[in-house]
Amino acid sequence: MTADLVIANATAVLPEGPARADIVVKGEQIVDVVGPGNGRGTEIIDAAGKIVLPGGVDPHVHMLISFMGQRSVYDFESGGIAALCGGTTMVVDFALQRRGRGLIEGLRHRRKQADPVVTLDYGLHQIVTDVNESSLGELRQLREEGVSTLKVYTVYESEQLKLEDGAFYALMQGAAKEELLICLHAENAGIIERARAEAVRAGHTEPKYHALTRPPITEVEAVSRALLFAEDTGCPLHILHLVAQKGVDLIERARRAGQRVTAETCTHYLALTDEAYERENAQYYVMSPPLRSAENQAALWDGLKRGVLSAVTSDEVSYSAAAKSLGIASFADIANGCPGIQARLPVLYTLGVAEGRLSLERFTQVFSTWPARIFGVGDRKGQIRKGYDADLVVIDPEGERVMDASCHYGDIGYTPYEGMKLCGWPVLTVYRGRVVVRDGRFLGEAGQGRFLHRGATDMPELE
Ligand code: URP
Ligand code: ZN
Repeated sequence: MTADLVIANATAVLPEGPARADIVVKGEQIVDVVGPGNGRGTEIIDAAGKIVLPGGVDPHVHMLISFMGQRSVYDFESGGIAALCGGTTMVVDFALQRRGRGLIEGLRHRRKQADPVVTLDYGLHQIVTDVNESSLGELRQLREEGVSTLKVYTVYESEQLKLEDGAFYALMQGAAKEELLICLHAENAGIIERARAEAVRAGHTEPKYHALTRPPITEVEAVSRALLFAEDTGCPLHILHLVAQKGVDLIERARRAGQRVTAETCTHYLALTDEAYERENAQYYVMSPPLRSAENQAALWDGLKRGVLSAVTSDEVSYSAAAKSLGIASFADIANGCPGIQARLPVLYTLGVAEGRLSLERFTQVFSTWPARIFGVGDRKGQIRKGYDADLVVIDPEGERVMDASCHYGDIGYTPYEGMKLCGWPVLTVYRGRVVVRDGRFLGEAGQGRFLHRGATDMPELE
């Protein structure tokens, strides 16, 4: 057998730890991992001095999203290219159930948008906004169609997304039966809505009031409530974009008690603090939950280091600088979210590995291996291992570049990480055995991506 491609002589982050190795690829799969210089194949790429990681898995992205009156710059083609340029080879996006409509209808609609143009492997979480006999009856079919995760919002009634507690609890009962993982946007709507209305009435409309009207208790209460429901129903639970330190404590306690729960934090919460709300373009930092204190941020790094938090996601939302600035008159009108799919790797590598907060192994786990397992593709993604998909990213641990808006593919016009000096930039991305990005240039084509049928969650153990 002649292999097609060998990534040679790099430090590869293997399941047993980093080691110099050659990674041998045939077709779409890794067929061998051998000692440096021993790989044979048609094309040999010498990656000496570089690090090879399993392709990133980002299980929390919003491509082609319309929200709070704005539309994202990225669709499934351009957002996928940005992801691949940033070393991420698989994402999980969202299908939306509109109230009064079916789950499967929402899934089909989203697949129609994505399938013809998507540029990387993707899965879909099903957002559930209407829990009734009919939608509960669709859960099994959803599983059969490859969707093993649901998303629930406890806020955003203005966007017709919020689930009341009764519906949330009933959905958990149904999800537990079908072994579906519930992913939760956890914030307490009542406290937030009252505080927002009061702030706006008092003329407190600057972006910093976005954070002040969403204090940590709003997150902590919603996490705590969800943990109780999940324990009672036996439903596996994943907490999205966790920021509040006390939320991390709750996750740790629940996991140590044997509950099936995981949590992620996001790149922006690790890189930025609420000091950003004092900056000139503070509207760029309006996302939910909001940025919190430096002390709180230290707890997130500690949670990652100790494996309490299992993933770092981007929560990618690519509103342009102009779109973010439209709501400048009041924080309540600024569309929530920030871009980060492409920045996730260099930001996490620099702040995590280069600055000594995370080992290279832990970084790889939260960037790729654990999200692959939690979101049902751990048998083929997230590891450099014989038989796994040949999704690889080669990064340069040395070369530094200062981040600016031009570091994002496409025309977003800003980056939340402006001015940060970063290393660990990807120099080569291999997707299903093909080099699709080399030195920042996309070499693939629209439609090369595939929808992935995902299985049940396989949560990593807490050491
Ligand atoms: O601010 C955020 N996170 N925007 C994306 C929508 C969501 O899920 O909250
Ligand atoms: Zn959210």
